[in-house]
Amino acid sequence: MRNLIFYVTLYATMGLCAMGSAYGSDFDQALFDKGKAVYDQYCMACHNYGPPPTHAPPMFGISNHYHQAFPERDQAMAHMIDFIKQPSPDKSKMMPMATQMWGMMPPLPLPDEELQAVAYWTWEIVNQDTPPAPK
Ligand code: HEC
Repeated sequence: MRNLIFYVTLYATMGLCAMGSAYGSDFDQALFDKGKAVYDQYCMACHNYGPPPTHAPPMFGISNHYHQAFPERDQAMAHMIDFIKQPSPDKSKMMPMATQMWGMMPPLPLPDEELQAVAYWTWEIVNQDTPPAPK
């Protein structure tokens, strides 16, 4: 009987944990804030947050495109990090028009932890924010 109670409690706890992560409790505010700081420092010069675009597609639009191109955050982040280190047209997940309009992004050799943070932030802005109105 003791064993039975033990296993019932164990499985109930595991179930709750799984539910928690499925409902977004795995959001990491500290990493998100760090990514925003990286964006402010290195990306904002070319990428506006929302429309209109200046020298490159706005980040909120990039985030939307990456949500359409990848089902999972990890895959999207890995692709983005690889792109930022070594951009090329065949890796682009934007419309072909984007690279024709703005040319290629220069490679930005930032430390991996900063690339991780900014890729996390870029993926999460669509989940955490409402679409910015054009300025
Ligand atoms: C010197 C200007 C410049 C800077 C600085 C810059 N970018 Fe870009 N970026 C571009 C241009 C131009 C494009 C559009 C063409 C393309 O897709 O390469 C682009 C496209 C992108 C894309 C879309 C990739 C795809 O799939 O096509 C991502 C993601 C991105 N930038 C992230 C970043 C991040 C994150 C930073 C800061 C760490 C950054 N960029 C800094 C110019 C810049």
